[in-house]
Amino acid sequence: MSQPRQILVTNALPYANAALHLGHVLEYTQTDVWVRFQKMRGHECYYVSADDAHGTAIMLKAEEKGISAEQHISEMRKFHEADFKDFYIGVDNYYTTHSEENRDFSELIYNRLSANGHITQRSIIQAFDPEKNLFLADRYIRGTCPKCKAEDQYGDNCESCGATYSPLDLINPVSAISGATPIGRESVHYFFKLPEFSKFLSEWINSGTVQKEVSNKLSEWLDSGLQEWDISRDAPYFGFEIPNAPGKYFYVWLDAPIGYMASFKNLCEAKNLDFDCFWNKDSTAELYHFIGKDIVNFHALFWPAMLKSADFRTPTKVCVHGFVTVNGTKMSKSRGTFINARTYLDHLNPEYLRYYYASKLTNTVEDIDLNLEDFIQKVNSDLVGKVVNIASRCSKFITNESGVLSSRIENEALWDQVTGVADSIANYYENREFGKAIREIMAQADSVNEYIAEQEPWKRNKDQDQKQQVQDICSLGINLFRIILIYLKPVVPAMAEAGEFFLNDKLSWESIRKPLLSHKINQFKPLMQRVDKDKVEAMVSASKEETNPEKKASSGPLSVNPIANEISFDDFMKVDLRVARIINAEIVEGADKLLKLTLDLGGEKRQVFSGIKASYDPEKLIGQLTVTVANLAPRKMRFGISEGMVLAAADEEGIYLLEPDSGAKPGQRIT
Ligand code: MSP
Ligand code: ZN
Repeated sequence: MSQPRQILVTNALPYANAALHLGHVLEYTQTDVWVRFQKMRGHECYYVSADDAHGTAIMLKAEEKGISAEQHISEMRKFHEADFKDFYIGVDNYYTTHSEENRDFSELIYNRLSANGHITQRSIIQAFDPEKNLFLADRYIRGTCPKCKAEDQYGDNCESCGATYSPLDLINPVSAISGATPIGRESVHYFFKLPEFSKFLSEWINSGTVQKEVSNKLSEWLDSGLQEWDISRDAPYFGFEIPNAPGKYFYVWLDAPIGYMASFKNLCEAKNLDFDCFWNKDSTAELYHFIGKDIVNFHALFWPAMLKSADFRTPTKVCVHGFVTVNGTKMSKSRGTFINARTYLDHLNPEYLRYYYASKLTNTVEDIDLNLEDFIQKVNSDLVGKVVNIASRCSKFITNESGVLSSRIENEALWDQVTGVADSIANYYENREFGKAIREIMAQADSVNEYIAEQEPWKRNKDQDQKQQVQDICSLGINLFRIILIYLKPVVPAMAEAGEFFLNDKLSWESIRKPLLSHKINQFKPLMQRVDKDKVEAMVSASKEETNPEKKASSGPLSVNPIANEISFDDFMKVDLRVARIINAEIVEGADKLLKLTLDLGGEKRQVFSGIKASYDPEKLIGQLTVTVANLAPRKMRFGISEGMVLAAADEEGIYLLEPDSGAKPGQRIT
C-alpha cells in the first residue's frame, strides 16, 4: 500500500432549476466510485458537491412558481440530495452556492483579482426586455435568422444555417420571457482579463492536468486567442452583488466553481478539518474536479486562472467525461429515454446502473451509450449470473454443515491468480479505467465458476468420503467470491454490504491477501435480483409521460400534467377536500399569475395564493363556491404564506375553477 494521500474531489454542481437525469448520474457515479476506491485504500479523501443556485434561469423559474428564489432552491436541493443518496453517491457534504461561505470566498477572490489589476470594466450594449426590465441572455431571445430567414431561431446562432450573430441582428426579435421586442441598452460590465494568463494556461493544460484530447482542444482555443471574460450581470439577478458595484452581480459561472471551496469550507467547520492545507498555494493535497465535456472552458481556463491570480493552488486534475446517450441517440423526451434519476429509482435498483456505467467508463471524453437491452443482459449475466452465482452455488454445502469454512486453501494457484490481479485492478480504478477493472474482475469470476463446474461439489457431496473435499472446494469458492466483492465494492456498495453480512467480515482492500480460514459465515440470501425487463419498459413509459417531475410536485394549478402514477385508495383518502366560499380576492402586487384569495371553510378562514389571474377578474370571484385542499401543508411563497390550494382545470388555453353544485355549504367534506 502506498503512502496515505490527502485528496479533495468534486463533481460539477447541478443547476438548482431542474431534476437530475441519468446524464448527471453518470458523472456522480464516476466520481463516487473513484472516491470510494480512494477511501478503501486508506487515503484521506473528501468528496464535496452542492447545488448551483444562482442565475437568471433560477430567478425566472422561482417567479413562475410564485415563490422566492431562496424557497425554490431549497426545494430543489431536497430533491437533488434525495436522488444522490438513493444512488449511493456518498458525498461528504452537499451544500449550495447560495451560502455565506461562498459569498465570502467570491468577494475575496474577486478583490484579489481586482487588486492584481486583472479586472477591467467597460460599457457594452446588450438586448434588454423593456417590459420585464431585464437584460436578456442570448437564449432568451428568438427571431428570424438575418442570413437564411429561418424563423424562431435563438439569439446567438441559427440552427438552420449555422450562422452566428448578435441577438440584435435578428429580424423581428422577441423576448422569450415577455414577448416584447428587445431594445439595445448600454450598461457597464466587469471583465476578467483572461488573456493575461495565456502563457500560464498553455503550460498548465500541458502538465498532465487534463486528458490529451482535452488539452488539444484547449490549445486550439489558446492559439486562436483568449477573450476577456464578462463576469458581471445587471440587476435583477439572483446571485451575489459585486463589492463596491451596486446593482452589479457576479455572473453565476464566477461563483459556481468557488462553490467547491465553500462546500469544503463548510465541511471543515463541521469536521474540524484544515481548509488551508487543501487550498494554499503550496498545498501538497490533491484536488480533482470531475466534469462533463460541455464545461471544460470554465474548469480548465477561467478557474485555474482565477485561482492563480488569487494566490490559491490549482487543480491536480480536471477529469472530463463524455455524454450519456440512450439506445444510441441523444436522450429524448418523446422516446422516453430522457430519464430522470427519480423515475429510474421508482422502477429499478440503483446498483444495476452503477454497475453498467462502471463497465462502460473509460478515462476518455467519449460518450457512453446506455443501451437498455445490453443493460439488462450485462447486469443479469455479470452480477447475478457470474458473481452472486458463486456464493449461491457454494454456500449451501457449508451452511448445511457447520457453517464454518475450511482451514485450508484447496487450490493455491487459483487463489494466487484471483488475488494476484489486485494491483492491476487498483491501477485501473486509479486511472478511471473502470471498464477495464470490471472486465478483469469478471474474467476472475469466470475462472472461479469454471473451477466450481469442474469440481462438481453437488455430485461429490453424495459420497461420504468426499465430504471434506466438498467443504474445501466450496470454502475456496466463498473466499474467492469475497475477493471479487472487495474488488467490486466501490461500484456496488450496498451489495457489498449485504455480502459483508453473509461473509461475517468487513470487506477491505488490505485484507485481500488474508483468506477466511476456519471462519463462520451466515446463511446466504441472494444479494441481487435479476433485472426485470417489464420494469425497464415501465420506466421508459413513465419517462414519456412526465417530462418535469419537480414541477408536478411543487407547482400550483397552472401546471399541465400527464396522468400521474397510480396511488392507493388510502393515499387518496389522505387528501381532505372541502367546499369553500371565496370571500375575498385580490391582485398581488408584483406577481404575474397569482391572485390572493380568502376562503371561508365554514367558520375557518384561509389565505390561499392561486395562479388563476389570467382567467379571472378578482371582483367577480367574490362570493363564489369552489373546492379546496384543506390539509395541504402551508407553503411560504414570495408574497406570503399559502394555506391550501383551490382546484381548477388548467392548460395553455384557460383555467376553470371547480364549483360544487348549488346547495353545497362551505366546510362540507368532499368524498
Ligand atoms: N451548474 C453547472 C456546473 C457548475 S460546476 C462549478 C452545470 N450544471 S448541469 O446541471 O447542467 O450539469 C452538471 C454536470 O452534469 C455537468 O458536468 C454536465 O456535463 C453533466 N451532464 C449533463 N448532462 C449530461 C449527459 N447527458 N451526460 C453526461 N453528463 C452530463 O453545468
Ligand atoms: Zn439561418
